[in-house]
Amino acid sequence: MRTQVVIIGSGPSGLLLGQLLHRAGIDTLILEQRTREYVLGRNRAGVLEQGSVALLHEAGAGARMAREGMIHYGTEIAFNGRRHRIDFKELTGKNVTVYGQTEVTRDLMDARAISGAPVIYEAENVSLHDVSGKPFVRYTKDGNTHEISCDFIAGCDGFHGASRQAIPKDIIKTYERVYPFGWLGVLVDKPPIADELIYVNHPRGFALCSMRSATRSRYYLQCRLSEKVEDWSDDDFWAELKLRLDADIVGNLQTGASIEKSIAPLRSFVAEPLRYGKLFLAGDAAHIVPPTGAKGLNLAAGDVFYLSRALIDYFKTSQDKALDHYSQRALARIWKAERFSWWMTSLLHQFPNSEGFDQKLQAAELDYLFSSAAAQTALAENYVGMPY
Ligand code: APR
Ligand code: PHB
Repeated sequence: MRTQVVIIGSGPSGLLLGQLLHRAGIDTLILEQRTREYVLGRNRAGVLEQGSVALLHEAGAGARMAREGMIHYGTEIAFNGRRHRIDFKELTGKNVTVYGQTEVTRDLMDARAISGAPVIYEAENVSLHDVSGKPFVRYTKDGNTHEISCDFIAGCDGFHGASRQAIPKDIIKTYERVYPFGWLGVLVDKPPIADELIYVNHPRGFALCSMRSATRSRYYLQCRLSEKVEDWSDDDFWAELKLRLDADIVGNLQTGASIEKSIAPLRSFVAEPLRYGKLFLAGDAAHIVPPTGAKGLNLAAGDVFYLSRALIDYFKTSQDKALDHYSQRALARIWKAERFSWWMTSLLHQFPNSEGFDQKLQAAELDYLFSSAAAQTALAENYVGMPY
């Protein structure tokens, strides 16, 4: 078997790349180790930059998002008993769309199904071969081994995938920061506490009030890494959240039985370069950000923007130039989002063992933010997303 581009992974990166290439007349095969239902069962953030929204439309997967997504023109930051609004529209002229990543994935899967382009689910033991020569990918399905040769491989298989591992250790360099806390998240079928997201810096720990729709809310609490999700009853969660919210808003909180509850660690990670021979990394395979600032999916979309353009250019012109620039172009944007996510995380969380000096600096930084239009603009322009 042969195709032009083998895409490993059917998360948002792989599916979006697949759609954009398919629309440009390029043949792709997506190999996914899990089932469709498993992929759709993963719960992740839900804030889309305008660039991500535009790409989803370009991929033919934007119709439901346009109907059901909620446009937000600002966000709130709570600190020291007060809430401060960052007005994206006034500061940048832009907005964000709140639409769950699960829904993005579902819409992309549906678009792919309509296009008839192939996805192989439950493809096991995916391995990459002759990546710097004549590449091919091997996998097993139902006990049979298959081999597929291609012009290029797109490694869109997330942080734990096989693609990044296929780059020799002396070529790839990784940068990492692990944070000393996690996020305990709860999804609940109740209307959100407010019209916009609220990021909370509280002495008991960070909290976030987010949403998926007018009737479904998503809340997070900073927790210790040693904590287990089983140790948190719904009642415990709501009681702790109430302690971290201001008196004037807590009365709006509608609690209920959680429909999902999980703990996620926070990590910053970047691998460089994103290209090795005919292999290109995109999305979580190449980088991770902590969820503060909701950049994970948007960064993946940025990578796919650059990579799709470069591959389309190659198949049109047989010139390597755009492909040669992919890694450098994508990394320039990635590092800005890494910086922003690290900064938002540092600004809003309680750090164990942090000294009085660190806490005073954090308070001064927040105070400066709330009093300076320049500082708010810097936050807003990063939150709504850097241009491609
Ligand atoms: N072979 C085939 N598929 C694999 C393999 C493998 N060896 N390893 C992982 N996969 C699949 C996973 O099952 C998953 O469906 O690759 C997909 C990777 O998807 P994501 O982890 O969602 O990564 P990505 O598509 O880059 O999405 C980036 O979405 O997942 C969030 O936090 C992430 O917000 C970020 C954005
Ligand atoms: C979410 O809704 O899950 C969410 C929103 C904003 C973030 C992180 C997560 O910064």
